[in-house]
Amino acid sequence: MQKLNFETVFAHQIVFVENLNHSKIEGYRYGSVTAVAHSNIALIKYWGKRAIQKNLPAVGSISLTLDALHTKTTLQFDEALKQDVFLLNEEKVEGKQLKRISDFLNLAVGYSERPKARIISKNNFPTGAGLASSASGFAALALALDDRFGLNLNRENLSALARMGSGSAARSLYGGFVEMKLGSKDDGSEDVAVQLKDESHWDLRLLAAVTSTQKKDLGSTEGMNRTAETAPFYDAWISSQPKDIEEMKKAISTKDFEKLGELTEHSCFKMHGLAMATRPPILYWNAATTETIHRVWKLRQSGIPAFVTIDAGPQVKILCLSDSVDEIKEAVLDVNGVEYIIEAKPGPAARIVHPEKEIIR
Ligand code: PMV
Repeated sequence: MQKLNFETVFAHQIVFVENLNHSKIEGYRYGSVTAVAHSNIALIKYWGKRAIQKNLPAVGSISLTLDALHTKTTLQFDEALKQDVFLLNEEKVEGKQLKRISDFLNLAVGYSERPKARIISKNNFPTGAGLASSASGFAALALALDDRFGLNLNRENLSALARMGSGSAARSLYGGFVEMKLGSKDDGSEDVAVQLKDESHWDLRLLAAVTSTQKKDLGSTEGMNRTAETAPFYDAWISSQPKDIEEMKKAISTKDFEKLGELTEHSCFKMHGLAMATRPPILYWNAATTETIHRVWKLRQSGIPAFVTIDAGPQVKILCLSDSVDEIKEAVLDVNGVEYIIEAKPGPAARIVHPEKEIIR
């Protein structure tokens, strides 16, 4: 079997993107492999792409990997298949979503005449509703692909591979606190994620208040592109990000919870403010989202340290410390429209698992 190194993968990526000659990958491993990756929540948000085709971010970002939310993916290449087969939560996925997966495989392998793949994925949380299912999904798939093609990519290069599927997926290769770096090269070789601190660094809690399990109407890629084209404050968003990143790194290493919370809320509202200023406007929130924000702020006024963040969906994620979890849960579950709460801690890195031994909750 031919072994690929990352340079080869990158060369393939560029070749694929620019539609030049494909070079063949000779070998892949028969049989299936299973990978688990956890979702992550951005404390400093990624929003905007500097290169759409190669999926390069316009800003760096910082995230926390979550133990309670994960995707488990089994991948097998099969020469008998005529096209890729993708089962997500036991349902066959076709159309645009299947194409996104097939394109990712082509890009990664650099060879569209590759054997077709059977991919069986399970999320233990709602898909496409702002709980970062694409992050855990593409991170698990990148790891599984690396295994089946014997690429032996290191974590940084695996993160770059996952990034080609979804920007936030790069961060899910690692546990704990993670930085997605903003590169300056056109080939994306610097746009990789690195771990800042592992999951044992700080025993924080993240409560995800689920206000809707419906799929969102507007995906993040479309939302980002529309924002870049029409939001009047886009340049300010880009230029103010490095300072937020630096301050957040300091808050994480010194375990300054007030600062971490303040920066997290700032980044969240800056991103959503920008999205709202887009034409036509983008608003991912519903009534319960707003009500939950106010409920958390009220709790904070009463002395409970808790801060909110929201992604491309209506769920409210609440950062807090372990001793205030019960009180916050009670207050937030009381909000009209909050369906349930998922409690998470800092979670581990993506990994290859035995298919049955690590059971999806
Ligand atoms: O990775 P994508 O394309 O799903 O974009 C993620 C965008 C946000 O979740 C809103 C922010 C982030 O940094 O995760």
